Amino acid sequence: MSEYRSGLGWDSHRIAAGRPMKIGGVVIECEFGLEGHSDADVLAHAITDAILGAACLGDIGMHFPDHDARWKDADSMQLLEHAVALSRQAGWELVHIDSTVILEKPKLKEYRERIRLRLAQSLSLTQDRVSVKFKTAERVGPVGEGRSAEAQAIATLRR
Ligand code: C5P
Ligand code: MG
Repeated sequence: MSEYRSGLGWDSHRIAAGRPMKIGGVVIECEFGLEGHSDADVLAHAITDAILGAACLGDIGMHFPDHDARWKDADSMQLLEHAVALSRQAGWELVHIDSTVILEKPKLKEYRERIRLRLAQSLSLTQDRVSVKFKTAERVGPVGEGRSAEAQAIATLRR
């Protein structure tokens, strides 16, 4: 009989002018972006932590520390792929991802299929096993005031 585990991931990045906005490996057309040591892909980071969490392998900062020059301006999709590889080495198979990006603007729904496809590639999953949802924060709090973006994810692993 298979054993299943779930892992939860969350991330937040400050919004800043003159920065790219990358969500799940897809560049979003926007006059502002997300600030961070890496490419600040808030969704990739949340999913990475969800996978590490399900496999009880620590968190993103443990595997890819901020102060480590190797990961400076790193492509977060590579970190995500590395987390999948680590979970596989520990005997786990990823079966499903659900996620939510909380961002006041721009609207992301036109990007949904592109993001799902790009994530599915890095996760070695079919697109029907990758769910990506979007929400505003109803103009309340740092996300609602357009000062930051957040992402939440849950990963399901099987062995
Ligand atoms: O936050 P709210 O419930 O108003 O969002 C309504 C819908 O707008 C969401 O279900 C989602 O499809 C879309 N949305 C989006 N991009 C965002 C926020 C919300 O496409 N940044
Ligand atoms: Mg992050």
